[in-house]
Amino acid sequence: MQLITSDPHTGPDPHFDQERIARFLEVHLDQYGDRMEDILKCLNYAFDPVRGGFVVIAVEDGAILGAVVVNETGMSGYIPENILVYIAVDRSQRGKGVGRQLMQAALTKAEGSIALHVEPENPARKLYEALGFTNKYLEMRLHR
Ligand SMILES: CC(C)(COP(=O)(O)OP(=O)(O)OC[C@H]1O[C@@H](n2cnc3c(N)ncnc32)[C@H](O)[C@@H]1OP(=O)(O)O)[C@@H](O)C(=O)NCCC(=O)NCCS
Repeated sequence: MQLITSDPHTGPDPHFDQERIARFLEVHLDQYGDRMEDILKCLNYAFDPVRGGFVVIAVEDGAILGAVVVNETGMSGYIPENILVYIAVDRSQRGKGVGRQLMQAALTKAEGSIALHVEPENPARKLYEALGFTNKYLEMRLHR
């Protein structure tokens, strides 16, 4: 398995077909998924050199085994520099350490702090906690 990290400043890379990554995430995010158009918006942002962010994909024999998408916020201090928006591992490949490796690659690539949100009962929470994420705050949203 190979981990490949995108960089919006190095130009188009054939490894990162946004439609393909979006389809992968749509299928493998399970109940934590979003609408395809929202996943694509997030990917567009990550590949936009002005806004910024990156994607790490785990690939084996040409197939995507997992992906993580991070958006840079453009802020720091009062708001973390990065938001980890999506992470998913192919359902048939879970529990083998792929998710942990993707997270570690994302932590290496990101500069500054990282925010993410996770439902309290999602097993992914254990992975985030093991890597040092804490939840001092209760996230609240006004949906409009
Ligand atoms: C979350 C996800 C990416 C983890 O990927 P993975 O490759 O299965 O994870 P790993 O094998 O690297 O496991 C890493 C750690 O996560 C935790 N973990 C992962 N799946 C778990 C499960 N089903 N039950 C309990 N703990 C689990 C464990 O703490 C594990 O640590 P360990 O290796 O010391 O046991 C994967 O389960 C997934 O795609 N889930 C659906 C999408 C999702 O929930 N995304 C996150 C939304 S916030």
